[in-house]
Amino acid sequence: MKNFVSVHDVKNIDALVKKALAYKADPFSDKTLGANKRIGCLFLNPSMRTRLSTQIAAQNLGMEAIIFNVGQEGWALEFEDEAIMSGNTVEHVKDAAPIFGKYFDILAIRTFPSLKNREDDYSELYIKQFIKYAGIPVVSLESATLHPLQSLTDIITIQEDLTEFPLRTGGKAKIVLTWAPHVKPLPQCVANSFSQWINAWGKADFVITHPEDYELSEEFTKGATITHNQDEALKDADFVYVKNWSTFKDYGKLYESDPKWMLTNKKMQWTNNAKVMHCLPVRRNVELSDEILDGPMSIITQQAGNRVWAAQAVLSEILKHNG
Ligand code: CP
Repeated sequence: MKNFVSVHDVKNIDALVKKALAYKADPFSDKTLGANKRIGCLFLNPSMRTRLSTQIAAQNLGMEAIIFNVGQEGWALEFEDEAIMSGNTVEHVKDAAPIFGKYFDILAIRTFPSLKNREDDYSELYIKQFIKYAGIPVVSLESATLHPLQSLTDIITIQEDLTEFPLRTGGKAKIVLTWAPHVKPLPQCVANSFSQWINAWGKADFVITHPEDYELSEEFTKGATITHNQDEALKDADFVYVKNWSTFKDYGKLYESDPKWMLTNKKMQWTNNAKVMHCLPVRRNVELSDEILDGPMSIITQQAGNRVWAAQAVLSEILKHNG
């Protein structure tokens, strides 16, 4: 693995999941793999889980992690090639990224979409420019359209449950991604990425449910069953992944936050004792009810804990294949 920015960077999802679970069982089994190496984690946007889990994962591999909150502490970066920098940006990524390449062995970057211009966001300019100019492996800590470390974590968590309770699903698991209300427009990254990974994994009946006009890009959802009827989608579900996203077509809008889309225990009666997942952070009693979050079917804390093992498996692969 050279870079890790989408599922396309992974040859074998199951092998990567297995590796992550092996690290969960024995966190320090490769404690010298990253000795004398450094990862630079650049945050253009806020984070809790991604930041801490990546730092812990690097340390488990004997690697030093340096965190740089570029968005708050660094010079404002310019990403457009041939830009005339007479505005607010102070340093071009073409100048900054090669320096990160001198300081670090791996570069990890979090950057959010603007939600203003779909073509710009979906071009993934920021992460592509870092790949182009840094000269070292690049890991996405969430980009404009995808969140691959989260999605790998999600499959690790589903696989853990399937291994522990093989008879619960009675065959191929049914995984439902359901839209949830929110108070502000959010990126499509987690939903896009989850769809991309579950489709590529190919081991589940995958259903996406959302209100009309909240269709995601077909680039990621193709292969899934899509319905606007949440109750129908939830029927016999083994896993329910709850997430809000803003509109893709009329880009970045929040048309409504109809509370009827919030998952409740009543709605869970349709499912096959489904386990409930969410990437966090979550708005309680807006996106997800207290009764679900605090109830026995939530595997959300387990899921967030697994972020460490996903990051460790990815960093390990990069270290092994990039000397
Ligand atoms: N799920 C997730 O990426 O969490 P953070 O934004 O806290 O990193």
